[in-house]
Amino acid sequence: MRFLVTTPIPEPGMSILRAAGDVEVPNQRLSAEELRLRCASGAFDVVVAQLTDVFDKAVLENATIKGISNYAVGYDNVDVRAATRRGIVVGNTPGVLTDATADIAMLLMLATARRCVEADGFLRAGGYQGWQPELLLGHDVSGATLGLVGFGRIARATAERALGFGMTVRYTVRGGALPADRLGHLAGRVQYADWDDLVRTSDFLSLHVPLTAETHHLVDARILRAMKPTACLINTSRGPVVDETALVAALRAGEIAGAGLDVYEDEPALADGLAELPNTTLLPHIGSATRSVRSTMAALCAENAVAMARGQMPPHAVNPEAWR
Ligand code: DGY
Repeated sequence: MRFLVTTPIPEPGMSILRAAGDVEVPNQRLSAEELRLRCASGAFDVVVAQLTDVFDKAVLENATIKGISNYAVGYDNVDVRAATRRGIVVGNTPGVLTDATADIAMLLMLATARRCVEADGFLRAGGYQGWQPELLLGHDVSGATLGLVGFGRIARATAERALGFGMTVRYTVRGGALPADRLGHLAGRVQYADWDDLVRTSDFLSLHVPLTAETHHLVDARILRAMKPTACLINTSRGPVVDETALVAALRAGEIAGAGLDVYEDEPALADGLAELPNTTLLPHIGSATRSVRSTMAALCAENAVAMARGQMPPHAVNPEAWR
């Protein structure tokens, strides 16, 4: 079995791959053309990929690989249709990063509403001269209304946490309210709202949708204007779901109170002016970044890759039909 690992993954991932076959790790990040050539070279069964490796039509066109094992739950870096047409299975790492990412969504809400970054900077710069009644006043999280956009695993785990903070939790999904059996133990504890209503009424609007053609710039200037001026936008999903230039303008104009972001439209670059805004909490895409989560992701990713290389259906395939 021959694996191309575009960027080394944590243990036990590399050991699982090395025990199963030959592993090539390039010395530096592959360009699109280098990735295309390797995928078409016939030298590899599976590519173990990062969300920064783009598998578009051009890369996949003449690919001879059996699979792409993405070291992420998201797979918007892969043109799955093109992969399926080519008979290439795409694997991902669902489930294991749910809690860690929901923790980061809560952290972003708390940090943004309570001006944590500003307060830390103020203190470190020697600004703290003692307790003051009106020092760094923020917004309440406890008791506030959280609007979840999308209601998959991470949104649900965020709902659990928010309920523990006494928040009112509302969600929106395409196709209307979910039946009680699909809400599981959250039935009766969360409320459905349509998109416009959710935008208008949320104190925190938290994004939990995959990046697709439909969700690209889902949050644009119009939506930002429709939010409460006291509301915060939270994004732990994918950057391009938000029009980041419009977000900077809305934050500057006071159309919303703040934003807590772990993902960006053009990572690692930030929209002009974003980093200068005090009412933001900006993290470098660390939603799943705990030692144990990253190592569990690595094990899943490697197991997916080994199964694909053996010609077996991997434990987590996003397009099993590619092999039917
Ligand atoms: C994912 O898994 O999709 C995250 O964005 C990175 O862990």
